[in-house]
Amino acid sequence: MQIILVGFMGVGKTTVGQLLANTLAQPFIDLDAEFNTVTGYTPGAYMHQFSEAQFRQVEQQILKTQLQQPQAVISSGGGVLTLPTSREIMQTSDFYVVYLASDFAVNIGRLKGDSHPRPLMTKLTAHGLHELWQTRQAHYQSVANLTINTNGLIPAAIVAQIISKL
Ligand code: S3P
Repeated sequence: MQIILVGFMGVGKTTVGQLLANTLAQPFIDLDAEFNTVTGYTPGAYMHQFSEAQFRQVEQQILKTQLQQPQAVISSGGGVLTLPTSREIMQTSDFYVVYLASDFAVNIGRLKGDSHPRPLMTKLTAHGLHELWQTRQAHYQSVANLTINTNGLIPAAIVAQIISKL
């Protein structure tokens, strides 16, 4: 299978992706980790050192490369669809795109309890974060083959829902 997970930061793409890959006995690829391997920087450190625009270009190259995998479960970064060309790349790929959705309050609550630092979280006001969230919902929806509302669901239940729809 070729499956890619999209959704806002903190929604659980990496946890769900890993579990889904294990369940399907398929390779798992995390695009943020791949970015780190390729550039030697974490996404946050790269944006800090260079710029978000440069980060998006490199992120797109990594996305393109990984979408060549004959089979894999890929988890993407929350902003991977920021560039219109990245949305096109995902729309025209053979990968089955699963959008992990959740309510804004649930998502932000989870992010606040997360130890993993998110550069965009610290840079934005509460209003700015809500705007970004709304803009991105449209991006995720524009590429999704399947949308799962993850509110109140444990990772195993999300994986079970995805598998039941494949
Ligand atoms: C980003 C989300 C991060 C990472 C980078 C930018 C974003 O990934 O790619 O910090 O723009 O939302 P996660 O969604 O895995 O946190």
